[in-house]
Amino acid sequence: MTGKQFLSTVKYVAGTKPAFLLSEIAVYLDEPLSVGQMYALLQPHLAALGLAAQKTGEDYAISRLQPSPPYILNAAEEKRLDAYLSLGSMPSVLETVIEQYISGKTGKDWSDPVILERLRRAIVAQKDDYWKPADKRSLQYTKGYAVLGYLAYHFPVYFMQARHLLAQMARDGLLKQEMTILDLGTGPGVIPLAVEDFWMCLDTARATVHSVERSKENIEAFGALARSVATQNPQVTIEPPREADITSPGEMQLPDRVDLMVFSNVLNELAGLPVAARADIVMDYAERLAPDGAILIIEPAEEATSTGLRILALALKKRGLSIYAPCTFVWGTNCTPDRCWSFQTAPSIRPTRIMNTLAACNEPFRYVNTDIKYSYVSLRRDGKTRTHCHIPKDTKALRLSKVHLNVGKRITVVAAKMSEDLGDKETHLFRLCDGSAEKPVYAVLPAFHIMPSNRELGSAPYGAVLEIRNVLVRYNPAHDAYNLLVSRNTQVTPIV
Ligand SMILES: C[S@@+](CC[C@H](N)C(=O)[O-])C[C@H]1O[C@@H](n2cnc3c(N)ncnc32)[C@H](O)[C@@H]1O
Repeated sequence: MTGKQFLSTVKYVAGTKPAFLLSEIAVYLDEPLSVGQMYALLQPHLAALGLAAQKTGEDYAISRLQPSPPYILNAAEEKRLDAYLSLGSMPSVLETVIEQYISGKTGKDWSDPVILERLRRAIVAQKDDYWKPADKRSLQYTKGYAVLGYLAYHFPVYFMQARHLLAQMARDGLLKQEMTILDLGTGPGVIPLAVEDFWMCLDTARATVHSVERSKENIEAFGALARSVATQNPQVTIEPPREADITSPGEMQLPDRVDLMVFSNVLNELAGLPVAARADIVMDYAERLAPDGAILIIEPAEEATSTGLRILALALKKRGLSIYAPCTFVWGTNCTPDRCWSFQTAPSIRPTRIMNTLAACNEPFRYVNTDIKYSYVSLRRDGKTRTHCHIPKDTKALRLSKVHLNVGKRITVVAAKMSEDLGDKETHLFRLCDGSAEKPVYAVLPAFHIMPSNRELGSAPYGAVLEIRNVLVRYNPAHDAYNLLVSRNTQVTPIV
């Protein structure tokens, strides 16, 4: 009997009774399997089957997984969160621990000119690598300075960026009283440390964070940072990272049921793998996702990685996951993501002491990394989406896939705002998407046409769905894209 047949037998039995012992499955099997063998086959798929296992003596009691209650923020937590998000700096204890770690690893004070010069070289090398085509990169994090450079340059901004993503989840009611979190490709522990920090805003929620990382240097840095910082919050347990390759999920001992899985800035590094193989890897992990859990994939906002993320997200949608955010499929169609460059922004962070010290040179801009710009997708198995799009009955909206037939005409569309302002003071420019367009579509709003009736275009948050009435369609040959010209007579209304 294959593993697949075994799993369908378990599924069948689970459909007939709410609880049973794993040993009861043995009678249905053509080839005998011990309870231990059956458990090893079942464990990675428990969450996908909606089941939980509890060891009882030599056996396992199998029962249906009960949904965990959502963690709803109270007024005081909401207020705390606002204050927290307005902070522009990493916690000072973390900043100090990073400095101490660099000093400890190099044997000299981090601000020693020799160390600073080596950090500068490491940062430049890492950035140069990032801009290379995916298959030409050599991001390995095997050398000490690669990790030290990462701590000095990337860590602060990614740590602060995680705050915004976690806050969005908290406000959407997607956190739980008790959560199991799994961070794949954790590096020096950006996500686990951000969770530990974020949960301090929550009164009673608890979380356990597991992680996987293949680079020893990163694991060492993670250990040092976590030891110094993580004991601060008893609500969060950070498990030591597993040293493993995330492309082989089957070979790792991982929790059965994960409420949140995070791939932060890592899937783009699996450059040798085609999209289908990357999607297969994510789907393997998704077997462990709680039925009401989320997978969060984050990538840098740079065009190639950002577009790569959208292509991957569509591949995952086609494999059965639903896209919770940021995309809205207004017409229920699948999108054409090949030119979908869409990212979110948040207020810049304050440069750290290390960044400021590194910047005391001829090319300061190379060493200060404060902009928060990221592409992300949140995926689920339960079909839930952040935005429910009900097109008002009286709206004769045109699909964006049809704008090419309406050049020079005035039309009405219903689409999500998929960028912050990409224009300038005179002309504001926002990317639009309804999930149907093959070519990029932008809303163009000249500053002198801003009116109360169209102001929502600028003020609506990233991802918001808008009804935009009365816009003029233009083709922009320089970018092979369509512009929808917003004027004083255009009405922009959020759709909720
Ligand atoms: C750019 S860092 C991101 C670290 C962290 N997640 C963050 O957002 O800052 C990518 C990390 O993924 C790890 N990584 C890349 N490929 C991996 C693989 N196949 N298995 C395990 N870790 C991997 C790298 O070693 C590195 O630590």
